[in-house]
Amino acid sequence: MNVNGKWYRAIWPNEHDPETVEIIDQRKLPHRFEIVGLTTAEKTIQAIRDMYVRGAPLIGATGAWGVYLAVVNMKDADNPLQYLKEECFKIGNARPTAVNLEWAVKAMETAILEKPNAEDWLKAAWFKAIEITEAEVENCRQIGLHGSPLIEEISKKKNGKTVNILTHCNAGWLACVDHGTATAPIYAAFDKGIDVHVWVDETRPLNQGSRLTAWELGQHGVPHTVITDNAGGHLMQHGKVDMVIVGTDRTTHTGDAANKVGTYLKALAAKDNNVPFYVALPSSTIDWELKDGVKDIPIENRDPDEVRKVWGLHDGHLVDVLVPPEDSPALNVAFDVTPARLVTGLITERGLCKASEDGVRSLFPDKMK
Ligand code: MRU
Repeated sequence: MNVNGKWYRAIWPNEHDPETVEIIDQRKLPHRFEIVGLTTAEKTIQAIRDMYVRGAPLIGATGAWGVYLAVVNMKDADNPLQYLKEECFKIGNARPTAVNLEWAVKAMETAILEKPNAEDWLKAAWFKAIEITEAEVENCRQIGLHGSPLIEEISKKKNGKTVNILTHCNAGWLACVDHGTATAPIYAAFDKGIDVHVWVDETRPLNQGSRLTAWELGQHGVPHTVITDNAGGHLMQHGKVDMVIVGTDRTTHTGDAANKVGTYLKALAAKDNNVPFYVALPSSTIDWELKDGVKDIPIENRDPDEVRKVWGLHDGHLVDVLVPPEDSPALNVAFDVTPARLVTGLITERGLCKASEDGVRSLFPDKMK
C-alpha cells in the first residue's frame, strides 16, 4: 500500500540483508511511521506479543518469518531437529486466538522437514516464508474482488448514494501484509468509483480502529468517520449503516467467527436492524477442527493495564494515562465469538458462502476434514 508516496507491505525481508526481516511498529501509528528490523525468533515473538504487528494474516506471516529467522540462527545448535521443534513451538504460541499463526508455523515446519539434510533448511524456510506471504497477499486481493460486488449492489439500490459500511478493529493491509480482509472489498469498490463511507469503531482498549484503520483509509483517500465502540447500534437504528464488514482471527468451519472483542455486539445490533453482517477471511483463518466457536475458540486474555490506561505517543515515546481508580481491577478479554447464525455470509478468496458447515464445504471441499 502507498504511504506518503512509497509502496509498503506490513512485513518484508530487508533487500540488502537477507538475515533481517522488517516490520512497521504499529504501536506508534498513526503519529510515527517507524520500521523495525527483526533478526531473531525471540524478537519476532516479542513483536507479535507486544503488538508491533497484529491482525491474523500478518501474525501468521510474521510467524513464518520467525521460523525462517530461527533457522538463520541455528548455526550452533547441537540437535537441529530438537532446536527447530522448540523454536516452532515457542513462535506458534506467541498469541492464542489467531489460528493463522499455528497454521503458518506448521506449514513452515513441514516444508523444512521435507529436507532431510539440515544444511538445506535455510533455503526451504526462505522459500516457504515467501510463499506464505505472497499467498496471503493474493488471497486478500481475491477477497476484494469477491466482496466489492456486494457494495456495488447496495450502491445501485441507493441510486449511487453513499454506501455506509461499519467495521470493527483493523482488518486492513496493516493486519494482512497487503489489501486487508474487511477493507479489501472497500478499497476495490472505492477504486472503481463507488461512493463509500466507513464508520470506524475506535476499538478500545488498543484503538486499532481509530489509530490504524482510520490512518489506512485516510492514506487511500477513503472517506471515514471514527465512532465510539458503542455508537454502531444507534447508527443502525437510524438507517445510517448499510452493511457491516469485519475481519476474523479464527472462524470455525461451521461459521462461528472470533474477532476483536465487541464484534459480537455489532452483529446483534445488525441482526436487530436487518443490516447485512459479513465476515471477510482467507482460508488460513479457518479452523478445520473446532465446531463450536463460542465454546472452544481460545480467547486471549491480555494485560488489564491495557484497559485501565489510555495509551498514546508523546514526543515519539509511548506513554499512558491511568483512567479508573488506582486500585480498580480490570479484565481484558481481547476477542469474542459471533455465532454463525448472526453472520450474513463469509467473503473468502474463493468467493462468498453461507456461514455454515455446508457453506464452507461448498467452497473448500478439498480442505474439509
Ligand atoms: O488484537 P489484534 O489487533 O491482533 O486483533 C486483530 C483483529 O481482531 C482483526 O480484526 C482480525 O485479526 C482480522 S485481521 C484481517
